[in-house]
Amino acid sequence: MQTGLKGRDFISDLDFSKEEVKTVLDVAWDLKMKRAMGISHASLRDKVLAMLFFFSSTRTRGSFEAGMAQLGGHAAFIESRTTQVSHGDTEKELGEIFGRYFDGIAIRHVDWGIGNRYLNNVAEASRVPVLNMQCEIYHPHQCLADLMTIMEKKGRNLRRKKMVVSWAYASSYLKPMSVPQSLILQMPRFGMDVVLAHPPEFQLMPDIMDQARDLAKKHHTGFDVVHDMEEACQDADVIYAKSWGPLMTTHDADEGKRIQDQYKDWIADDAKIALGKDDVIYMHPLPADRDIEVTSAVLDGPHSVVFDEAENRLHAQKAVMALTM
Ligand code: CP
Repeated sequence: MQTGLKGRDFISDLDFSKEEVKTVLDVAWDLKMKRAMGISHASLRDKVLAMLFFFSSTRTRGSFEAGMAQLGGHAAFIESRTTQVSHGDTEKELGEIFGRYFDGIAIRHVDWGIGNRYLNNVAEASRVPVLNMQCEIYHPHQCLADLMTIMEKKGRNLRRKKMVVSWAYASSYLKPMSVPQSLILQMPRFGMDVVLAHPPEFQLMPDIMDQARDLAKKHHTGFDVVHDMEEACQDADVIYAKSWGPLMTTHDADEGKRIQDQYKDWIADDAKIALGKDDVIYMHPLPADRDIEVTSAVLDGPHSVVFDEAENRLHAQKAVMALTM
């Protein structure tokens, strides 16, 4: 067990080794059990986390804030647009100053080509850990909760389990591609055979794809890319179907929507779920475009684990905070 995580940033999924991720999950299960038993676990008493948001959130904000309180500390909600961040506070200033006020700095910044660099610049100037609450490249805490949930449903040994990471149609907005990118990086390390499915215009970042291929090779797992959702879902153990924008193709919202609108049949519905194994699970980080991205029958149906998945955000993040802060 690798426990030397104090002071460490968690910005990319690969910032923690496989052994360190296992430690995070062990701690997460311990904290989950303690909360269920009503056992106090205030290991971060007197500590304060800054939560800086450049983009809206429900689950991430709620789970980090509740998690800090349950660990005996406090989380401060800070929005970029209501602070001087919107008037020119730089990453260096923020890292230096918040690093002196707080014991950890969590940031959500999903702007294309800006968010990840922003987090890393703050981390460079900060004396306390920086935690990624989602950038345009990674959503690592979501991915930890996803891994935790899959292990709860399928067992700790995931070797040869087939995980489908599929694009799905949405009409609300061009969603970030950080969730599928984190999944294809993290899951091969735990033995899962990953099938990535998307229409041709919805490629992920080439560098992330190269890393995912290398990890699959290193860990002797499958990594295939298909452009057909039905083909992907065949015999799946896990179907993780969600939307992301065609961001490697265009950043124009109207053009992106025109491209997306060609693929309205890429919906997670009963027919797709029926192609998977009898005990296939359906996952989504939420929020979903209900009855557009996924049918209500699937989202609320017996294969869906979305609420357990959302709950595990709390436990996984508490583990990261308790280990790093
Ligand atoms: N899954 C997730 O990150 O949810 P929020 O956008 O509501 O935080």
